Amino acid sequence: MRTKTKNGTTNNNPIGIFDSGFGGLTIMSAINEALPSESLIYFGDTAHVPYGSKSKSIVIKYSKEITSFLIRYKVKLIVIACNTASAFALPILKKTLKVPVIGVIKSGSKAAVFASKNKRIGIMGTEGTINSKSYLREINKISICEVYQQACPLLVPLVEEGWNDNEIADSIVKKYVEPLLEKQIDTLVLGCTHYPLLRNILKKNVGEKITLIDSAKATAREVRNVLNKKYLFANLRNKNFLKFYVSDNPNKLKIIGSRFFSKKIFDVKKIEMSC
Ligand code: DGL
Repeated sequence: MRTKTKNGTTNNNPIGIFDSGFGGLTIMSAINEALPSESLIYFGDTAHVPYGSKSKSIVIKYSKEITSFLIRYKVKLIVIACNTASAFALPILKKTLKVPVIGVIKSGSKAAVFASKNKRIGIMGTEGTINSKSYLREINKISICEVYQQACPLLVPLVEEGWNDNEIADSIVKKYVEPLLEKQIDTLVLGCTHYPLLRNILKKNVGEKITLIDSAKATAREVRNVLNKKYLFANLRNKNFLKFYVSDNPNKLKIIGSRFFSKKIFDVKKIEMSC
């Protein structure tokens, strides 16, 4: 459902999306599904992944360099598809870039507040995301809620290994969700790009009554709202393209990335980063 273009004007420039590695492809996939006429450029910083255990200053440095790369492609909007980079770099990128910038935390927080009836919300994320308290702040800007956070550093390597649904994943997920379940949460935010791939095992451990919030769809909705508000939709007859760049190991994005993107990725280019 597209709504307005100002006096029929459209903008066929691409949308830039970036993440620390493969995980942001879940967000790209949701955007591609929701807005099939849009061209998308993805950058995965595979030379520096993971961001989740790194300091704020280094994640900001990487994010700035990636966005300068994306800007060279005349992107009309940038999506920070990584929770950790959204937590650390969104405020500064919003201030310094001329194009609109969207992170994943606000959309996930909105969806969580909307879903929760008892206003007790759990957040799972990387160490960086949890220590930044970004979800906690965003949620409490929208509504007063009890927010319980849990850093889950073992889950990213587990998913990248493809161990999404075995007994090891099951016992690790159980250990992480137990303290949240004790707090009687009714909504659980999957505050990391990789966790949607653990959906089955998470569902098994938290039960049917707890709503799982995956920010991919919520972020795609936010992208649509911004394009709509700023008259930036691509023409429906746009010959759209999808491009993939990484800072290391293009083949790995083709192999592992296809699991996150839910489609085969054929062409990936490597870009040298200076930092
Ligand atoms: N993309 C990161 C996130 O959503 C997870 C992987 C990493 O630690 O770099 O926080």
